[in-house]
Amino acid sequence: MDATRTFDVQKLRADFPILSRTVHGKPLVYLDNGASAQKPRAVIDAIRNVYEHEYSNVHRAAHELSAACTEKFEQARRTVQRFLNAPEDREVIFVRGTTEGINLVAQTFGRANIGQGDEIVITAMEHHSNIVPWQMLCEEKGAKLRVAPMDDTGTLIFDEYVKLVNDRTKLVGVVHVSNALGTVNPVKRMAEAAHKVGAVILVDGAQAAPHMRIDVQELGVDFYAFSGHKAFGPTGIGALWGRAELLEAMPPWQGGGEMIKTVKFEKTTYAAIPHKFEAGTPNIADTIGLAAGLEYLMEIGLDNMEAYEHELLEYATTQVSAIEGVRVIGTAQNKAGVISFVLDGIHAADAGMILDEQGIAVRVGQHCAEPVMDFFKIPATVRASFAFYNTREEVDALVKGIHKVKELFA
Ligand code: ALA
Repeated sequence: MDATRTFDVQKLRADFPILSRTVHGKPLVYLDNGASAQKPRAVIDAIRNVYEHEYSNVHRAAHELSAACTEKFEQARRTVQRFLNAPEDREVIFVRGTTEGINLVAQTFGRANIGQGDEIVITAMEHHSNIVPWQMLCEEKGAKLRVAPMDDTGTLIFDEYVKLVNDRTKLVGVVHVSNALGTVNPVKRMAEAAHKVGAVILVDGAQAAPHMRIDVQELGVDFYAFSGHKAFGPTGIGALWGRAELLEAMPPWQGGGEMIKTVKFEKTTYAAIPHKFEAGTPNIADTIGLAAGLEYLMEIGLDNMEAYEHELLEYATTQVSAIEGVRVIGTAQNKAGVISFVLDGIHAADAGMILDEQGIAVRVGQHCAEPVMDFFKIPATVRASFAFYNTREEVDALVKGIHKVKELFA
């Protein structure tokens, strides 16, 4: 069945107030979802409702508001558990976003378990946030960062990855969906190979959570991090999921209130997970907003969304690739959400500016993935990144916009 025809995209667009605005006098065509997605009324209302009617600190006071807010906050944890199909809600740790989740694992699991001569394996298509925390750890511990290569389509060379993991490998870090290329990585098979050598595997799910159903049990991974703001939720909130036995064995990260059991000047003992990793007052309202966003996605149905987006991406890829002088960067078989491209003889920044004048929002640059640009020997790309609320008409507007760029810079 043609999902682009059965999925009621116009009805869903009406849930996003910002999508009806204009930019430079033109209807907004928002194709920068990979950087940050727009928010449905359900999220905006949930945040407003907390501050207008329910707000108080959580886990601390004896009064009604605090009890109600704590219940909502912990309910949000159960929503994330459901969203990821995680076995237990205590395995969900609220963090600022994917970056903080990865840093948490590097600074706790990493510091405790990775030492001199050990190896960490990542892929050639990682975002900086899944490179730099591991480089910092390797530098501190004398461990080695190894990089599994990709081919010219932006597909991981799986056999080379398997050759790289060995009994020195302590951790594999992989992006589920590449932000710069759109490649979907074979995470489940990668996890099997990592576990064969006794390594754990962490997944950067920042670009996957907005596009597909995530099932951490089915994937068989150990840590999974994602950001709220890319998944139609608020900024400054995200979640790290980790297997309970790993989280329990890990030392705490930040010290402070909430993460302790008892504090004596002689010795402090720590709270059980997840609170052991949540020092200080959390981002209460945005956590509740995040849950509202995830509930909204689950209501639409992640499988419906994925099917619709898949067809939209195929349509967009055919249209954009057909334009003379355009080269699509990232042509893997299994892709989600992203078309990155370069235009012969035209700087990405110039293209972005002309597209913006037509109301079309894209991202231009290296997309926090400088090694990907180096691999393809290009300084930057123009990236159109899609969400389930984008339409074929918006793809047509992008194509028209690219022709305009070519006209102006020919
Ligand atoms: N990581 C975000 C992006 O890909 C900001 O645009």
